[in-house]
Amino acid sequence: MYKAPRGTVDILPQERAYWKYVEEKAAYLCQLYGYQPLSTPIFEDSQLFARTIAGGTDIVDKEMYTFEDRSGQKLALRAEGTAPVCRAYLEHGLFNSPQPVRLYYFGPAFRYERPQAGRYRQHHQFGFEALGDAAPILDAEVIEMTWRFFLLLGLPRLSLHLNSIGCKLCQPGYIEVLKQHYSAYAAHLCPDCKVRLARNPLRLLDCKKASCQKIAETAPKITDYLCRECQEHFQNVQKYLEALGIPFQLNYRLVRGLDYYTRTVFEVEPQEEGGQSSLGGGGRYDNLIEELGGKPTPAVGFAAGLERIILSLRKQKVAIPALPKPDVFIAHLGERAKIETIKLASRLRQAGIAVIEATGDKSLKAQLRQANALGTSYTIIIGKSEVESQSAVLRNMITSEQKTVPLAEIARALEQGQKA
Ligand code: HAM
Repeated sequence: MYKAPRGTVDILPQERAYWKYVEEKAAYLCQLYGYQPLSTPIFEDSQLFARTIAGGTDIVDKEMYTFEDRSGQKLALRAEGTAPVCRAYLEHGLFNSPQPVRLYYFGPAFRYERPQAGRYRQHHQFGFEALGDAAPILDAEVIEMTWRFFLLLGLPRLSLHLNSIGCKLCQPGYIEVLKQHYSAYAAHLCPDCKVRLARNPLRLLDCKKASCQKIAETAPKITDYLCRECQEHFQNVQKYLEALGIPFQLNYRLVRGLDYYTRTVFEVEPQEEGGQSSLGGGGRYDNLIEELGGKPTPAVGFAAGLERIILSLRKQKVAIPALPKPDVFIAHLGERAKIETIKLASRLRQAGIAVIEATGDKSLKAQLRQANALGTSYTIIIGKSEVESQSAVLRNMITSEQKTVPLAEIARALEQGQKA
């Protein structure tokens, strides 16, 4: 027996109600803020991710799904959505449109992680990006949009963490100070942090190990080392968020797991959990497009993991609308009734009425049981005498009311019933 690969899940129809709910709220949100949909391929040149997310991060060092195709080209399954959006922005000359260009996307992302609740090897992201503008008002827009998204979903018990990690000018100075701080504790660091100290010191700050967290508590704060421009930018972002009433928490240990960020970074977490529970995160990445060969193009964005959002919706018992059920089930008895059934079903569907017809030669009782299980509002029954009289029995499954209606008038009777 084959099983879905480790770290992947099948999404069965009853589960899809949650997905539809989240996707519809997300698309509505993007329409409200003027973001346009974009889709990119599920695989890209592996260097696109390796160069932008960068070596020294778990995603690039340990988690990418890379492969060579038959022509020897090195490809990678999409590890995240931002670099592909920037690649598309450059490839299609979107820098010629009025800036910022506002885009959003849905799609799977692949990371070879150790699977656990809320952490998969294939997960799905909803993300939005605003490209081509450095103004802090845009950071505030993206963060407000993020917050609004979770409110629209009915998930209010969340924390919004905010930090600034500076720019090319001020970050290197801070990293030196940080390295000095950690070097004094080098012998006490976990094995991962020993590597981080050499390769990616900023990531030392968000190690989840208790012993490393203790060292982080006394670490110098990056916000004390920002250059004047970054300081001003960060203050403006906070000022706008305060004006909007967005309840953010400053978190100087927030650095994010991808290396392309500059200045603003933010993350949303459920209040009752810690650790790996981030529902979504984002920030500015003012050097990424230039890194891909474009002109210097500041940008800011956010992405959320749909699986984690759905886990939270379930945990917080948010009521989700059920998927629409078919309107009508048609039961039939005998070969001639079968022909009338398929003709009637076809006519009803052309009139926009959703129909499921019985198949095979089951007893009427078995067919009605199926209608009950499907939860249709109406059942139509066509037997031998109904074929003779070119009519059908129309049963309202909610009131149990039953009447005989000419076949030619069934669509109208159903439409009237639906309006009533
Ligand atoms: P990220 O934080 O790596 O950011 O991923 C975004 C979200 O995807 C996470 O907050 C989490 O909800 C979800 N996620 C990540 N990995 C997994 C996993 N293995 N299983 C389940 N869910 C997961 C980015 O990807 C950036 N591109 C976000 C961004 C957009 N920054 C600027 N624009």
